[in-house]
Amino acid sequence: MKRKVIIDTDPGIDDAAALTIALNNPELKVELVSTVAGNVNLDYTTENAKKILDFFEKEVPLAAGSSIPLLREYEDASEFHGETGMGGYDFPESSRQLLPEHAVVEIKNKILAADAKVTLVTIGPLTNAALLLNMYPEVKEKIEEIVIMGGSTVGGNTNSAAEFNIKVDPHAAQIVVNSGLQITIFGLRVTSKALLNKRDIELIKGLGQTGDMLYSLFTHYRGGDLEKHGLMMHDICTICYLVRPDIFKFKETHLEVALAGPAAGATVVDFAARYTDRKNVKLAVKIDQKKFRDWILAEIKKLK
Ligand code: BDR
Ligand code: CA
Repeated sequence: MKRKVIIDTDPGIDDAAALTIALNNPELKVELVSTVAGNVNLDYTTENAKKILDFFEKEVPLAAGSSIPLLREYEDASEFHGETGMGGYDFPESSRQLLPEHAVVEIKNKILAADAKVTLVTIGPLTNAALLLNMYPEVKEKIEEIVIMGGSTVGGNTNSAAEFNIKVDPHAAQIVVNSGLQITIFGLRVTSKALLNKRDIELIKGLGQTGDMLYSLFTHYRGGDLEKHGLMMHDICTICYLVRPDIFKFKETHLEVALAGPAAGATVVDFAARYTDRKNVKLAVKIDQKKFRDWILAEIKKLK
């Protein structure tokens, strides 16, 4: 049976690439895509999600969620993803209708109606996920796992301490990681090594309409550098994990989110093993870079 997933996202260029693979992978059934303010504002992230769903002519329902974090003032990441979040490719205007309710309600409805447990994948700030768990705790027993791109134990990408998805809404992140659910989390320690280099990007350019679309987006992406190290495919790590967990290594540990002060949004991990009775996450600690890159290229090759 295909694994049922709901993807909560803020496209965003690496989000667009993650959606591209998830929507087309035969082992996954994407039940719902929901959007959140993150890389760019909610109007843009929702329009961008529509564009990706349209591009692949997918009937997958789409719901718009939170436009602001729980407590902090919202700040975007348009310096990495461009003003609209997904510039660089000329997508046609979308006439796709959104589901009528707020994403938190639609996610709850989908999970409760499902005939099997659902995996929630979050590749943006965790605002929708936290609201869901607080407002509808009854969904918990139908959630298989929450797979998160967020956090860092190797310094931040917004300031020296905090990774973007957690920095935008640290309170939401704290709620989710302490929900008691199975949490698998990919931070910068691993996702900054999830690289596509210049050669890979050139190869992708030749891979049909999908390759052309992704290539156009990637050339507008500032997450990494094409000339030296490569582009960081942060969000794709979560999707890769669902079908190829062997590409990563993990550590069960305790993770805490700093909520205030100059390090707000930083994630502190118990590498010293002081709180072994408080393990709350399965943290990705290693990636096989070659296998990851080969997997992405093979996935894109299969598409139109
Ligand atoms: C995360 O922040 C966003 O800019 C990316 O889409 C990714 O989800 C990386 O810090
Ligand atoms: Ca993202």
